[in-house]
Amino acid sequence: MAKTKTIFSCQQCGFQSPKWLGRCPDCNQWNTLVEEQPVVAGNHSRALPEPGKPQKLAEVAGREEDRLSCGIGELDRTLGGGVVPGSLVLVGGDPGIGKSTLLLQACARLAENGVTLYVTAEESTRQVKLRADRLGIDSTDLYLLAETSLEQIKQRIRELQPAFLVIDSIQTIFTSSLDSAPGSVSQVRECTGQLMLQAKGEGLPTFLVGHVTKDGAIAGPRVLEHMVDTVLYFEGDPGHPYRILRAVKNRFGSTNEIGVFEMREQGLREVSNPSELFLAERPEESAGSAVVPSLEGSRPILVELQALVSSSSFGTPQRTAIGIDHKRVGLLVAILEKKVELALAGQDIFLNVAGGVRLDEPAVDLGIIAALASSHLNRAIDPRTVIFGEVGLTGEVRAISQPELRIREAARLGFTRCILPRGNLKNLDVPASIKLIAVKHASEALEHIFV
Ligand code: TYD
Ligand code: MG
Repeated sequence: MAKTKTIFSCQQCGFQSPKWLGRCPDCNQWNTLVEEQPVVAGNHSRALPEPGKPQKLAEVAGREEDRLSCGIGELDRTLGGGVVPGSLVLVGGDPGIGKSTLLLQACARLAENGVTLYVTAEESTRQVKLRADRLGIDSTDLYLLAETSLEQIKQRIRELQPAFLVIDSIQTIFTSSLDSAPGSVSQVRECTGQLMLQAKGEGLPTFLVGHVTKDGAIAGPRVLEHMVDTVLYFEGDPGHPYRILRAVKNRFGSTNEIGVFEMREQGLREVSNPSELFLAERPEESAGSAVVPSLEGSRPILVELQALVSSSSFGTPQRTAIGIDHKRVGLLVAILEKKVELALAGQDIFLNVAGGVRLDEPAVDLGIIAALASSHLNRAIDPRTVIFGEVGLTGEVRAISQPELRIREAARLGFTRCILPRGNLKNLDVPASIKLIAVKHASEALEHIFV
């Protein structure tokens, strides 16, 4: 009898090898290769339902207006303006961040226009009902199904004919055509493939929940990302109520739109005015706090940067940055030392972005410099001043993108002065209520910021 061949596949990245290896040569993770049955040829489903016949572009059905609104504006915005029929969306994020809550709320709103099915493969229907009660949901067209077998789920979908489907989570469902455990790379890949076929074939928009962190560190079958149409990450600091929904991949829209939510007792609430929220608790007139207009997609958001510089009692001073890349901070500290001549050696430096936001655009450089200098000199920055600009290695301030949007948002919130790169000054159409101060060098900016 022929010996059945098995393969070893990496549970992190999907790499396959004919023999076991201690370390995956592809993603360099240790002990991630697991023995699995190879998927037999023919078991692979066709991803596209239509027969392969050339069609004229103009004759292909489907328009922008066909998008469904989830009734949650921030979610629609992140998706690029609503759910596209037949799309497969992966919602990733750390456990406990609020993925199930978000999708249950979306299901409830969508159930007003048609039958929706929420497959709960992790929690019992009782648990989901308890949560729904807390969220004040009592939709009659929202169906719950506690099931982990893909074949059973597909059977129920054929019977119910829902207009919207949620699978919570993809790591807990399995297909009996494979004998590897649920959550393994081959199971996740095969189940997603089958759901994809169904979504495209029947035009059924499908949301999958996946416990995946951004770097794919936790049980992260990143293989999923390549298969789905849209990948959304739900992120936030568990200690803060704010949550940000970010599109990492989107076949139907831009990837830099974000949605902002606040986790409340009664579920997630949309935050349509994030700047006000992030600045709500700002200590005015205290040293070390600077306001920067950062851009998230097409949306300007004002955030507060806080710095604390204090003399160190250790030989090696501490450098801690929360919400900002610490290498970037190290570089800006070096620029302050060398080019602005502030003596920061031997000082502990802590930097924090208020509200648990993450900033990763260079436009906030000048704000970081301002906050650090303010704390070090113990002088408060003028509370009605915003500051932005990229800082180069010689301390020069460089122009950044979309200055107008940022300045308008600052003016809208009552700021009266804006310090910006000189290169950004050309052809600006901004309200007269805000005074523009253009600078060329970081040290020049520091002359203007203090009260
Ligand atoms: P959940 O949606 O279960 O997270 P995930 O599916 O991503 O694992 O959310 C769990 C957290 O949200 C939990 O810590 C409690 C909190 N929460 C609230 O604060 N208010 C609420 O109304 C709900 C439903 C949850
Ligand atoms: Mg959950």
